[in-house]
Amino acid sequence: MSTEMEESESAAHVLLLPFPAQGHITPMLSLAQLLCHAGIHVTFLSTEHNHRLLTQRRALSARFPTLHFESIPDALPPDQAPTIHSLHDISSSLRSVTKPLLRDLLITLAKKDDESYRSTTIRCPPLSCVIIDGIMCFAIDVAEEVGIPVLALRTVSACSFWCYSCIPDLIQQGQLPFQDQDMDHPIRDIPGMEALLRRRDLPSFCRMPIDHPSFKFFMEQIEAITRVSAIIFNTFDDLDPLILPQIATRFHKIYTLGPLHALLKSRVGDDLSSSVSSLRHEDRRCMAWLDSQQSGSVIFVSFGSLAKLSRVQLLEFWHGLINSGKPFLWVVRSDMLSSGQEERATPVELEDGTKERGYIAEWVPQEEVLAHKAVGGFWTHSGWNSTIEGIWAGVPMLCWPQLVDQQVNSRWVGEGWKIGLDMKDTCDRSTVEKMVRALMEEGDQREQIFKSVDNFAKLARHAVSEDGSSYKNLEKLIEDLNEKIVM
Ligand code: UDX
Repeated sequence: MSTEMEESESAAHVLLLPFPAQGHITPMLSLAQLLCHAGIHVTFLSTEHNHRLLTQRRALSARFPTLHFESIPDALPPDQAPTIHSLHDISSSLRSVTKPLLRDLLITLAKKDDESYRSTTIRCPPLSCVIIDGIMCFAIDVAEEVGIPVLALRTVSACSFWCYSCIPDLIQQGQLPFQDQDMDHPIRDIPGMEALLRRRDLPSFCRMPIDHPSFKFFMEQIEAITRVSAIIFNTFDDLDPLILPQIATRFHKIYTLGPLHALLKSRVGDDLSSSVSSLRHEDRRCMAWLDSQQSGSVIFVSFGSLAKLSRVQLLEFWHGLINSGKPFLWVVRSDMLSSGQEERATPVELEDGTKERGYIAEWVPQEEVLAHKAVGGFWTHSGWNSTIEGIWAGVPMLCWPQLVDQQVNSRWVGEGWKIGLDMKDTCDRSTVEKMVRALMEEGDQREQIFKSVDNFAKLARHAVSEDGSSYKNLEKLIEDLNEKIVM
């Protein structure tokens, strides 16, 4: 046996299992690259549709020889995007179709001498650990059965994760389900955020009856994740000093590695574009349009990969943007309109206003857009990736949350970290105009927000630098995976 092979046989081999949606694949793929960069073998297991999209681009496999892409069936229609209402169906399909196949794959990969799977160029050691997305908890049963340690990457913020964890307590205290319709009623019993949240800031599934399948889905995940050996968060210690110690009271091992996209650049370099994880085609012409705009003048509008708008909402947003008089770059995905609300003729004033000072794209290189000097504000749905990308770029945010964790994130943006404005639950054109102006125009409010987001951007840079917390935590994770001590 060659020395290279002996080394390789003793190295860690980790299977990463992302949830099949863009906002989950992106951070998991950043983690994959960080681990491969440290010499760890990674099997990146995607559902078939996403696997095809990811492996069309060869750049990743060429750059990381220990990164192995594998696929697994999920029996879902190829273009089914998850929604809060379909989560239960997706989860059932993953349980019934994917789970038994995952079991077979783990058994195969864990066998020391299995030749069928191993790469021809680099020998792949037996599987030593599984890192699942924090809402793929069906895989915990499988890993436990096969006897492989399991960790979770939680792609939501630490603050929303902590809120989720406290939901059983809120139910026990009678605070959930809500007793009346007062959505501004304060929620005082979540440790670490006592004076912060109102009912409307709780995760969106708290607005559902507690016997709704989606509510039950989240309760199952909250319960199941207590069984993993460790949880990885895409945050950094200085962003969540009140919340991380709370999480540590219930979860004995956590690794904060955020912002993951920035840690990747700091550790691995930026020769690979962030587009390698994109499941959609990017319109790069928007970058030339941004080049033609004045510094700090543009509001960038993007609601992530899943949010849906009704036609009424779309038109209210559009009118508000045009009436604000600010230049805008707006991502309007082809699947963003709710079904049954297809495109109709656009009012002429919107067409004209957009030609004059707007750019609408189906999908853009968001990290690059946020880093562009023309961008002075970010109107976001407060998805966690977008939020931490906005923090990294030091761009003030306007929040219009829609789903799940986004309600919590936007409250933290507005009132916790004070790095933006929270517009949740309203979307009329005059509010949009007023909020866009407040975010983009000079004044005390913008100055305070800018100071605060700039401070967090600096702290984020420190976190991913060589003596920063995320950098050191990654070292620790790599060491623990190699020593096989994350059990
Ligand atoms: C969802 C949740 O909102 C999020 O909080 C959770 O952690 C993962 O699932 P999504 O709604 O898609 O994800 O939002 P977000 O987390 O912001 O992720 C969207 C990703 O798509 C970001 O990384 C963003 O940079 C990228 N994006 C978005 C683009 O690359 N181009 C675009 O045009 C729009």
